[in-house]
Amino acid sequence: MKHLLSTRDLSAADAIRILDTAEEMSAVSSREVKKLPALRGRTVVNLFFEDSTRTRISFEAAAKRLSADVINFAAKGSSVSKGESLKDTAQTLEAIGADAVVIRHYASGAPHRLATTDWISAAVVNAGDGTHEHPTQALLDAFTLRRHWSRLAGRASSGADLAGARVVIVGDILHSRVARSNVWLLTTLGAHVTLVAPPTLLPIGVEHWPCDVSFDLDEALESKPDAIMMLRVQAERMNASYFPSTGEYSRRWGLGDERFARLDELGLKDTIIMHPGPMVRGLEISSAAADSARSQVLKQVANGVSVRMAVLYLLMSGAPVSPSPSAPQLKESSS
Ligand code: CP
Repeated sequence: MKHLLSTRDLSAADAIRILDTAEEMSAVSSREVKKLPALRGRTVVNLFFEDSTRTRISFEAAAKRLSADVINFAAKGSSVSKGESLKDTAQTLEAIGADAVVIRHYASGAPHRLATTDWISAAVVNAGDGTHEHPTQALLDAFTLRRHWSRLAGRASSGADLAGARVVIVGDILHSRVARSNVWLLTTLGAHVTLVAPPTLLPIGVEHWPCDVSFDLDEALESKPDAIMMLRVQAERMNASYFPSTGEYSRRWGLGDERFARLDELGLKDTIIMHPGPMVRGLEISSAAADSARSQVLKQVANGVSVRMAVLYLLMSGAPVSPSPSAPQLKESSS
């Protein structure tokens, strides 16, 4: 594997290899010296054409923990505003020495284009493209869920898949690259996924995806999910009214105070709440739910650094991505 563009074409073996490597990276993050020399002398460029907090910062932290040099590029304030193309921008950054390009772009398919033309030879990592995919978000979600699932089963998470886990993904599926990447990855790992949304916020062809679809959140919660993943309503991608009012949306598809308070009586004692962020509190999730002991939101962010370290390490260090019986030997940096 030279690039990470999508979870749709990721095998279970490669996904587990990334998650297991992320467990190793997580152990490094709890050491006194958090740095590894693995990517010393290599350069990672964060090429962001859309706003980001979590993804850009955690890729930067991940690259730095592996001792790589990092160049952060934001389209805002760059020569993109003068009309410079993606090709010319990417080639300029490669001329400066990029060994890997982490790209977020508003156009679905932009990372694929960068990886499959001869524009650049650097490894390409998709950090979110339009409404298409966000593979490292799905990997960090799977990592978080796998830890929870393994803890419930009383076993180590390394090497484990998600067979038997039930995940309900709720909200603006239509515009969500996170939902798409999670459907492909979680089902590859053996989980059962149910999507819940108003009919207007489901994409055409969703009936052919490898998951169940429901319009009714309360009904979906009766299936006793292990995780409820709430999605942000992506108002910036909406050019029309997709639901009658924000109050109606919260009441029917939000995890508000009342629905959150009912989780215990529904027998969902061990069910976790996930959200990729940024959260719109009061719309898709209430503060009571977001700040509760069930919430994994900040754990997801922390796990994102470990997962992105694993992805950069596997793509850039020359380590084999196909499964190997032994975990990578990660030495502490002397610096
Ligand atoms: N989850 C996520 O992609 O967040 P950011 O947009 O802040 O990177």
